[in-house]
Parts: sequence; C-alpha cells; structure tokens
Amino acid sequence: MSAKVADLLYLIPIVTFILALRFLSNPAHARKGNQIGAAGMLVAIAVTWIRAGAGSWWALVIAMVIGGGFGAVAARKVRMTAMPQMVALFNGVGGGAAALIALAELHRVLPESGRPHIDVLVAIALSGLIGAISFAGSMIAFAKLQELIGGRPITYPGQNVGNIVLLVALVVFAITLSAGLQDQWLLWVVVIGGAAFGILFVLPIGGADMPVVISLLNAFTGLAVAIGGFELENNVLIVAGMLVGASGTLLTMLMGKAMNRSIGNLLFGAFGKVTAEAAAVASGDGGTVRSASAEDVAVMLAYAQKVVFVPGYGLAVAQAQHDVRQLADLLESKGVEVSYAIHPVAGRMPGHMNVLLAEANVPYPQLKEMDEANPEFTRTDVAVVVGANDVVNPDARANQGSPIYGMPILNVDDAQAVVVLKRSMNPGFAGIENPLFYNPKTVMLFGDAKESITKLVADVKNV
Ligand code: TAP
Repeated sequence: MSAKVADLLYLIPIVTFILALRFLSNPAHARKGNQIGAAGMLVAIAVTWIRAGAGSWWALVIAMVIGGGFGAVAARKVRMTAMPQMVALFNGVGGGAAALIALAELHRVLPESGRPHIDVLVAIALSGLIGAISFAGSMIAFAKLQELIGGRPITYPGQNVGNIVLLVALVVFAITLSAGLQDQWLLWVVVIGGAAFGILFVLPIGGADMPVVISLLNAFTGLAVAIGGFELENNVLIVAGMLVGASGTLLTMLMGKAMNRSIGNLLFGAFGKVTAEAAAVASGDGGTVRSASAEDVAVMLAYAQKVVFVPGYGLAVAQAQHDVRQLADLLESKGVEVSYAIHPVAGRMPGHMNVLLAEANVPYPQLKEMDEANPEFTRTDVAVVVGANDVVNPDARANQGSPIYGMPILNVDDAQAVVVLKRSMNPGFAGIENPLFYNPKTVMLFGDAKESITKLVADVKNV
C-alpha cells in the first residue's frame, strides 16, 4: 500500500477518534463513543499492518494478541474503584511505547543517513524524554493506588530543587543530541534520566491526588505519541496523540479548578501531608453528633416532598448504586420528588458518580450538576449524603484556615434536614473534620452505605 493511500485511509480513524470524544462527553451515548473509537483504532491498526508489508505481520499479530488479550481481560475484571490505577497502567505503557520508538528510530536512522536531519533528532529526543517520564511516573501512580507502595507523599529536603536540576540536565542532553552529537548512549541517558525524573516527580504526591497526576501524565503520553508520529511520518499517531494531549491537559485543569487548587499546588504541595495541620484548624469538633436509626430516617424520607441524594466516594466503595436507585424508585412511587446532586470531584476520578449511577440506570434528567443542584437545596426536605464528605464540607465556604477553603461544594446544609450515611466519624480524602456532621440539622446513619440503604428500602416499605 502506498503512503498516500494509507494517509487517505487514516482519515477514517482520525474522524472516528474526534467523534468518539464528542460522544464520550455525555453518559447517554458514552458507550457508543467507546465503540466508535475502538472501531477507528481497528482500522488504524489494519492500515498500519498492511502498510508495514508481509515481513513483520507475525510480529504484529503476536503483539496484538498479547496486548489485546491483556487489555480485554483487565478491562472486564477491573473493579470501578480500581479504575484510576488501570488508567495509569495503560497510560504508562503508551508513554513507554513512545520512548521505545524513539530508541528504535535512532537506531534505524543513524546508520541509514549518517547524519539525520535536526527535526528527526529533536522529535526522537523529545519523545524519548517525555515518554520515559510518563512511563515511570504512571507506574509509580499505579503502585501508589494499588497500595504496592505507601500512598502518602514521600518528601525530603531540597526535593523540588533536585527535580528541577535533573530536568534541566536532561533538557541539555536532549539539546546536545539534537544538535549533532548523535550517539545512541546519549539517548539512553535521556530515557533513563527521564524515567528517574518521572519517579521522583510522582513520589512526593499524595496517593489520592493521583487521578489529577494521571490525567497530566496522560497529556504527556499524548504529546510523546504525537511527536513519535513525526518520527514515523504517521499522521494518525500525530492526530490521536494531540487529541490525548489536549484532552488530558484540559481535564487536569478542570479537576484543579473543581478542587480549587492550582496545578502547582497539586504537583508540589504534597497534599496528603497537611492532615495534622488541617485537623487542627478544622472547625467541627466540640459539637454534638446525632445518630439516627434506619427506621427514623425511613419516616423522614417517606414523608418528604423532595429528597436529593448526594453520592460520594463511599458509594463507590460500598457499591450501593443499585440499592440507591431502588430506594429512589420506591420514594418516587410514594410521590416524593427525587434527584441526585453530582459534585465534579466526588469520588476518585472524573465522572466517577455519573458512571456509577449510569450503571444502575438512574435516569439522566435526575442527575444535577453542582451549579444546577445548589439552588435546589433550599426547597429540599431531606438531603441524603451517601458516602460523601469533603464535597459537602461547609468549611470550604467558611473556614479560611481549612486546606479545602474556596473549593466549591454542594450546599446540603441549605436543606431542611441532612442525613449522612457513613461508617464512622473518619475523615474523607482531605483528612479533615466536617462541621456538617455537628450541624443540628444533620443526623448520621452509621454503617456501610449498602447495608444502610437496604435497611432503608425495607423500612420505607413499612411506613
Ligand atoms: P471523601 O471526602 O473521600 O469521603 C468519602 C467518605 O466515604 C469517607 O468519609 C468515608 O467515611 C465514607 N465511606 C467509605 N466507605 C464507605 C462505605 N462502605 N459506606 C459508607 N461510607 C463509606 O469523598 P467525596 O466527598 O466524594 O470527595 C472526594 C474527595 O476526593 C475530594 O476531596 C476530592 O478533591 C478528592 N479527589 C477527587 C478526585 C476526582 S477526579 N473525583 C481526584 C482526586 C481527589 P467512613 O470511613 O467513616 O465510612
């Protein structure tokens, strides 16, 4: 197949990738988006396969069987709560592939052309460096989230300065390589140094900040792959890489905005470390916590006119989404108006709550994003907080000393009554007290969210 025909055919995956992103932006057609993207990828692989000629077909088949088999089994088996680490793993191998392509390309072009053109060398140096950072950083992110290593930030004096010096040194090596000293060992230094930087850069970041880091590393992988496309003169790699790079960058910025934290604070703030200070400035302790039984809460719910469910990370842990849906259906059958208020960073990954509730076939019109949900709380009888904590913490509005001060929250305390379902008084991700639990409007229903909701379903039926 000629390069021109291949480029023409590559337009198919390019268009499908853009369409896939469009479809993925709404839970109603996200599955279709996934299928469109996968079909496009199949076309891209087939064209590349045919273009590569018969010589290496068996290598491609072996790689596809191993990679495809692993991907399919992992994606089927993964639990929803383990999704961030799977994304980290898949993202990491993308970055690693870009770095390997850089090594292979330099190995190929050096003897062929003797003195490769500077644009090829710049592309090789950059994709080797960025790909290696993304690979090693993603592996650390995976290890932290999988609890293979401690999730807490690992810090030491002079860390940021040390990292910056290492990065500058690597850039100097990359420039030297591009400028003409084209020894293979120089690229190995860039790649191995990049991997070391990736490790050192991610280690100090708190385990629970990982989704934001993974999104940033995802953008790096996209960039490395796009640059790899220039090396290989492959347009589909350039476009797909840039799509990943741009969407990863946007997602990182949006998550930072929703948590009211700058990207600098996320990457260099060692967030999990502030727990002790944060606990000290929390304004919650000292009040009284009122605990209620499932029977009491069932009566509140059954006689309410409007109930808003506020899901959080605990819903994902308890896997209580189907039970919440059942309770909501039951309340609706009793004439109660039901909706769900979704905070943009509830849970541990973007869209976490939307995915869980979609799994339970909650009707999309009942899902209200934060801006739409907040004005509704003043006319809500009962706000039911299911395993959420930080995203409903009023300290974010009122306590300037709080590490989450300024983060937009769901104003559940505007409702007539608040019911909080969680197992204990333990804090959430930010490690801080929540004054909501001491609010006279609030009652706590202690226990695993799934068990509590199951009891509520039974008790509401009896009201
Ligand atoms: P969190 O503040 O983490 O609170 C979750 C609560 O769920 C905990 O207090 C825990 O209390 C409870 N819980 C855990 N397992 C439970 C179970 N089986 N049954 C009932 N309750 C259970 O969650 P959130 O309100 O969703 O906030 C998310 C946090 O993660 C935010 O601080 C956000 O900035 C951060 N974050 C989010 C993202 C994204 S993209 N979503 C990325 C990084 C960080 P008990 O242990 O007492 O049960």
